[in-house]
Amino acid sequence: MKLFFFSLIGAFFLMSCSGESEDDLKDMPNTDTPDTAVKLTFENDIKPLVEGRCLKCHGMPTRFGAPAGAIFVSFDQVNANADKMFARINNGTMPPASEGALSSSFVETFEQWIKDGKLEK
Ligand code: HEC
Repeated sequence: MKLFFFSLIGAFFLMSCSGESEDDLKDMPNTDTPDTAVKLTFENDIKPLVEGRCLKCHGMPTRFGAPAGAIFVSFDQVNANADKMFARINNGTMPPASEGALSSSFVETFEQWIKDGKLEK
């Protein structure tokens, strides 16, 4: 009878130990959930790029022949024109060749911002 109780206590002890190790696993950082990645925003990631490479012509007012409706200063303006802007930077027709090609990271950042849901900040 005594032996039975000892093995019962032993079993409880083992169970509580394995319970703890499961908790330890839960505390491990989970590296394969993309949702936890920091998302790109207009304020942090897009505005500086557009200011540097587009606003010379697509500011307010537009200059050097850029269409009057293609102003990319505010979040609302870039948000509304994002697909058109991406199409032109992705096919290499903007900015005009005389301005020098964009870096591939400019194009990738712009695409990622659209995928992230075009957040403002
Ligand atoms: C040196 C001046 C200049 C710069 C810099 C420039 N553009 Fe342009 N952009 C133009 C001109 C001129 C046009 C009109 C001719 C054309 O569509 O090719 C234009 C047209 C466009 C259009 C079509 C607008 C419409 O409504 O039809 C888009 C989109 C565009 N540009 C995006 C960009 C983006 C994005 C950048 C920055 C990466 C940029 N441009 C930089 C001069 C410029």
